[in-house]
Amino acid sequence: HPPSFQMGETSGLRPAICRAKGAAPGFKVAILGAAGGIGQPLALLMKMNPLVSVLHLYDVVNTPGVTADVSHMDTGAVVRGFLGPQQLENALTGMNLVIIPAGVPRKPGMTRDDLFKINAGIVKSLSEGIAKCCPNAIVNLISNPVNSTVPIAAEVFKKAGTFDPKRLLGVTMLDVVRANTFVAEVIGLDPREVDVPVVGGHAGVTILPLLSQVKPPCSFTPKEIDYLTDRIQNGGTEVVEAKAGTGSATLSMAYAAVKFADTCLRALRGDSGVVACAFVASEVTELPFFASKVRLGRTGVEEVYPLGPLNEYERAGLEKAKKELAASIEKGVSFIRK
Ligand code: NAI
Repeated sequence: HPPSFQMGETSGLRPAICRAKGAAPGFKVAILGAAGGIGQPLALLMKMNPLVSVLHLYDVVNTPGVTADVSHMDTGAVVRGFLGPQQLENALTGMNLVIIPAGVPRKPGMTRDDLFKINAGIVKSLSEGIAKCCPNAIVNLISNPVNSTVPIAAEVFKKAGTFDPKRLLGVTMLDVVRANTFVAEVIGLDPREVDVPVVGGHAGVTILPLLSQVKPPCSFTPKEIDYLTDRIQNGGTEVVEAKAGTGSATLSMAYAAVKFADTCLRALRGDSGVVACAFVASEVTELPFFASKVRLGRTGVEEVYPLGPLNEYERAGLEKAKKELAASIEKGVSFIRK
């Protein structure tokens, strides 16, 4: 492929700029890892999002095909593809939002931490690109282990002098999506009516659903609490095992990623009262990063909400979560500092 192919604007009959100018006003969004299991359905769904005017698809393999395919959808966003590290800077320049599902997924028997070796380096190099080319973009980091990759990105941005804690968000939305689904099943409601705060982090016991704060208010038996907590914490593993070595959650993750990205874009547009759970720089606990409800605005995370009243079960869960989280955060930080 030519050094900078731009699929979706290939007719050559009129300059590409005409189309970009004519496109609906909206935000410029890049997906890094766009040809992967999450990246492809995520590209599809972002191409359908009316808040997106330009969609950049970047990967180290297969972006030409994905870009050609998605670019034929008759929705507003102009799609461009970028292939390999030499095109990363073009992919990132001018972006308002960067979504990162790049990296290897789990296989049965693996924890998210087992992915650290490969994914830490990938997140490091992509973060360096962001610091250089779009330091003001909002970053939605999906690559696992999120509990370590977010601290890695933060350290890279600090080194470059571009770190703004308001703009770096680890995506934990899939935990919330799963929690809403499983809780709705137990209490017999439509999942769209259920809102479960999930705090802590994004791996095993660090995933802490606050079942005492479910909306609409409802109560659970101790047996239901054990079942729901375990299923929400191990929802990812449930999918990894069902896929039997072919990958981890991709479709529900793409859905969750778009739900989260759309939330960020509505906040950037200036909508008020935009709230979601995310893994962010935080003073809610003594840890430097923690997932909790945050309020988003034009500048990113504008308020990190406290955890609210926890019951005894949740307080015990929180202590366990913090112990594991502290180690995962430290692992990410020292990967860059060393
Ligand atoms: P996949 O292997 O299907 O796709 C990953 C893509 O990343 C591939 O297309 C690969 O070429 C690309 N890639 C590798 N190195 C890259 C680089 N340096 N720059 C750009 N792209 C690069 O994996 P899948 O299933 O899409 O998962 C991606 C990541 O998302 C994994 O780390 C997985 O653990 C994580 N994940 C996170 C979840 C969350 O809730 N935050 C949920 C599910 C998965």
